[in-house]
Amino acid sequence: MAFKESVPMLNKASCPNVINKPTVISMVGLPARGKTYMSKKLTRYLNWIGIRTKAFNVGEYRRAATDKYRNHDFFRQDNAEAQAIRQKCALMAIDDACNFLQNGGEVAVVDATNTTRERRKLLFDIIHVKYKFKLFFIESICDDPTIVEANVLEVKVCSPDYTGMNKDEAVQDFMRRIEHYNSMYETLDHQIDKELSYIQIFNQGERFMVHKLAGHLQSRVVYYLMNIHVLPRTIYLTRHGESQMNLEGKIGGDSDLSPRGEEYAIALGEYVEKEKIQNLKVWTSELKRTKATARHVKAPLENWKALNEIDAGICEGMTYEEIQEKYPKEFALRDQDKFHYRYPGGESYQDLVARLEPVIMELERQENVLVVCHQAVARCLLAYFQDKSSEDLAYLKVPLHTVIKLTPVAYGCRVEFVSLNIEAVNTHREKPKNVKTDRSIDEALETVPDHI
Ligand code: SIN
Repeated sequence: MAFKESVPMLNKASCPNVINKPTVISMVGLPARGKTYMSKKLTRYLNWIGIRTKAFNVGEYRRAATDKYRNHDFFRQDNAEAQAIRQKCALMAIDDACNFLQNGGEVAVVDATNTTRERRKLLFDIIHVKYKFKLFFIESICDDPTIVEANVLEVKVCSPDYTGMNKDEAVQDFMRRIEHYNSMYETLDHQIDKELSYIQIFNQGERFMVHKLAGHLQSRVVYYLMNIHVLPRTIYLTRHGESQMNLEGKIGGDSDLSPRGEEYAIALGEYVEKEKIQNLKVWTSELKRTKATARHVKAPLENWKALNEIDAGICEGMTYEEIQEKYPKEFALRDQDKFHYRYPGGESYQDLVARLEPVIMELERQENVLVVCHQAVARCLLAYFQDKSSEDLAYLKVPLHTVIKLTPVAYGCRVEFVSLNIEAVNTHREKPKNVKTDRSIDEALETVPDHI
């Protein structure tokens, strides 16, 4: 057999060469400055690029530890009992973050206010001095009252702290809570805190100050934070219309649309027209079927090579049955670990995520965009927005002739599947129930004749 061994799979443990030392990312800032939003979004992004990351929210530790929160008095500096509870919860979160890093985690995000120099020294002493992990601070500074108010209304009044309280009372109480923090707030200062690594983000990205970046991960985090925004927008994601090769059950290639695929292209143009989307941009891959699908949409268009379908290498243009017959070992290996499996001479889903990172970064910068792409590419993009694990990513269902609307809401993303009601073949292959082990693959192959 020509391909005795599959191309070695990438180490599934992590994204290679990115993390040389576990890192704690610690948020800093008054309440309602978007710290949790950033923590969650950054955690999702780092996991998506293959860096095992987890966020530890001190507010959640506090809610689990005590039901003593009645109102803002809990956060008064002279409330000794509450101060002791808060200190204990912060220590528990830091401890769990360090445990996570000692047990295979690569980045832990401590999502808390950390507004005093004393608290940040505690973080430094435990994380850096005791555990020798890297420590990077992200401080969100916001002096625009409209941003703070919008944040309080969007996420804080719905907090479990305010269950049963009316909205106005909750807003009042939260504003008083902010005042208690403000009375003790010490921002990071490049002269006093000259040994620390940090980024300061002013008014949600209007301006940035970066101090003493230490390593690749930190620069990647800074790059990401400098690209994200909080403006309302929707990303529309769709696969190309059904293609000739879809009809034949073949993967890859660069075929034209089928007659039903052509119908979808027209329907997509009409759908976009009806949605009346402001300043829409359209992105396609460089393959014929996505360009043809987008051609009735009236909006500025860009073609991205990075959006091309996964390269199936020696299996391009074949049906799954043909692959199973001709390359049974490859077929079985792919079923074993679809995300990391790389087609000989082609790509894996993991490769695809790396190829799509610039697309995600640019999508983060944009407002309304329609992305017309391919099944594997759409799975990777959807996994990013839906915070799906790499195991789930490769099996996400992305039906043909369906527009997926992705709209950021609070700390997550609303996902709506809109079928344009044009029949198409189903190209989804379910995860097999009984996946073969390496040994059973070899045993089974002893009875299979060599084809090439
Ligand atoms: C909280 O208890 O809600 C926040 C704790 C903090 O980080 O100050």
